[in-house]
Amino acid sequence: MVNWTDAERKAIAGVWGKISADEIGPQAVTRLLIVFPWTRRYFSTFGNLADSAAIMGNPKVAKHGKTVMQGLDKAIKNLDDIKNTYAALSVMHSEKLHVDPDNFKLLAECITVCVAAKLGPSAFDAKTHDAFHKFLCVVVSALGKQYH
Ligand code: HEM
Repeated sequence: MVNWTDAERKAIAGVWGKISADEIGPQAVTRLLIVFPWTRRYFSTFGNLADSAAIMGNPKVAKHGKTVMQGLDKAIKNLDDIKNTYAALSVMHSEKLHVDPDNFKLLAECITVCVAAKLGPSAFDAKTHDAFHKFLCVVVSALGKQYH
């Protein structure tokens, strides 16, 4: 059970309200595939991911970014029960997709970078960064829970 302060809840909701999932999601997954190229191996059905230009122009990457953000929206709406909210998603990433759970942290980093670049240091200040980082750590932990 994670303890959230009111300030953290407010900060996380504030970030979520200020960003567009359809903008940040595609940016973050694009960044994941470019900056951590070994992650491309999981997306063999997405077509050409050979280089940055191909990844940036790939509509399946953009669509998947939106899907990931829809997944995160469920965590936002269930802050007090992220673990159970993500149980099935964790099983899927483990048993069906065989995604190495270390990669969850990398996508979380990419999301943070994209959100920080979008909001700038006034809106995404130290406390906000801290709260949002905590949120993503809980997400990463919950996604890794069904790995054996
Ligand atoms: C699918 C969320 C991290 C690889 C999905 C889906 C969601 C999701 C919601 C769709 C599930 C469905 O169809 O029922 C997330 C979240 C992540 C995360 C919230 C972390 C913040 C990752 C990482 C990788 C990955 C790091 C690989 C490096 C995949 C793949 C699919 C998938 C390959 C299936 C894509 C397809 O065939 O359309 N993920 N994911 N995920 N995810 Fe993740």
